[in-house]
Amino acid sequence: MQKSTKKKADYTLTLSDNKTGKSFELPVLGGTLGPSVIDIRRLYAETGMFTYDPGFTSTGSAESAITYIDGENGVLLHRGYAIEHLAEHSNFLEVCYLLLYGELPNSEENEQFTHDVTYHSMLNEQVTYFLRGFRRDAPPMAIMIGVVGALSAFYHDNIDINDPRQRDITEHRLLAKMPTIAAMAYKYSIGQPFIYPRNDLSYAENFLHMMFAVPAEEYVISPVLVRAIDRLFILHADHEQNASTSTVRLAGSSGANPFACIAAGIASLWGPAHGGANEAVVRMLQQIGNVDQIPEFISRAKDKDDPFRLMGFGHRVYKNYDPRAIVMRKSAHEVLEELESLDEPLFKLALELERIALEDSYFIERKLFPNVDFYSGIILRAMGVPTDLFTVLFAVARTVGWLAQWDEMIADPGQKIGRPRQLYTGPAERDFVPMENR
Ligand code: ACO
Repeated sequence: MQKSTKKKADYTLTLSDNKTGKSFELPVLGGTLGPSVIDIRRLYAETGMFTYDPGFTSTGSAESAITYIDGENGVLLHRGYAIEHLAEHSNFLEVCYLLLYGELPNSEENEQFTHDVTYHSMLNEQVTYFLRGFRRDAPPMAIMIGVVGALSAFYHDNIDINDPRQRDITEHRLLAKMPTIAAMAYKYSIGQPFIYPRNDLSYAENFLHMMFAVPAEEYVISPVLVRAIDRLFILHADHEQNASTSTVRLAGSSGANPFACIAAGIASLWGPAHGGANEAVVRMLQQIGNVDQIPEFISRAKDKDDPFRLMGFGHRVYKNYDPRAIVMRKSAHEVLEELESLDEPLFKLALELERIALEDSYFIERKLFPNVDFYSGIILRAMGVPTDLFTVLFAVARTVGWLAQWDEMIADPGQKIGRPRQLYTGPAERDFVPMENR
């Protein structure tokens, strides 16, 4: 595990207060890659002021050695390895090991790690009874939040988060159980019996098996679909300090139970501006309906008085092609070819929408490119994954990122509870008014 190395100032930045005429020196810290940061940890003590940055558009909230994104150039690195290379040459569990431990595993480490994750994939049978308490039509993300949160009731008394070995076991458990819970949420919604995990299958094979096998017949797993799911997991594994990861870090900063922290991350991921986007892409494509309607929807997306946005386009960080979208687009071709559905109308519509938007000055000027979600929904839909399960698969994949970031935070000896401040604009102190005088 890479340890946190507190940086020394590269130089200082002078901040002058035009009201008082005072000036302050703020240290500027440089990372390995990317923009430097102004260290404002002593700002309040020295100036009596806070910074104001709602949405954290200019705020680094953590020192991290896990993932690097260069949004301007469309670069995503995990522990220094390009996402395209990992998607091409690696597999999901190897990437999990890399994210958690900082290096790619050698064959012995890989075997041990795969074994450890595989042998935690069953759920305590009581959890399945808990799951059965949900309505059959419950949104699967609601089930995920509930069931993962409930795991904290099963593993509450043997988690010392300050013990690296216990954190390791918790991480293996969560990685292993997420696909099982996701597949059970799906089986439950369609009234089929739960399919238990099989230890002779790979992580992605096992997931497809638990999702699509039925006790009545043998399920033949397509290697092309296995590769597509494995790649989808790799592409969603981590993305530095995004909303859900920051949620996990913030929840975990109080020392909360890690299962509860991951449930908080799932809740944050649920929103349409984050993990719900691929579901929104498919709905949007269905709403557009056919290629002739594209110009109308493009004008709606550009109209400031219309709330409609082109789903799967734009990203807070990427102002270039999301590198994951390029891999996902290729994967969509492979999957649709395997399923003999390259003529799938939604896929054709997506390709045409992408082409038109990329030539439109509105999208060019604002640097709005397709993001990872633009094609992932099409792949999942073609594989028979229902739309409301898309974000669940994202949660399964992102769990490793949440865990790696949570672990990095807990292992940092300088870790503090996360507690932002505010710019208060409410009323100043006033006298209580009795009911009869209001
Ligand atoms: N369609 C139309 N216009 C858009 C879109 C879009 N998808 N995205 C951004 N814009 C416009 C905005 O209206 C704004 O225009 P303006 O400068 O004229 O006011 C400009 O581009 C900048 O947009 P912001 O909303 O300020 O950018 P921000 O970084 O806050 O938002 C976000 C990023 C939320 C992803 C946004 O692009 C969006 O809503 N996209 C669609 C949803 C989506 O695909 N989300 C998935 C994100 S990826 C992920 O979570 C894995």
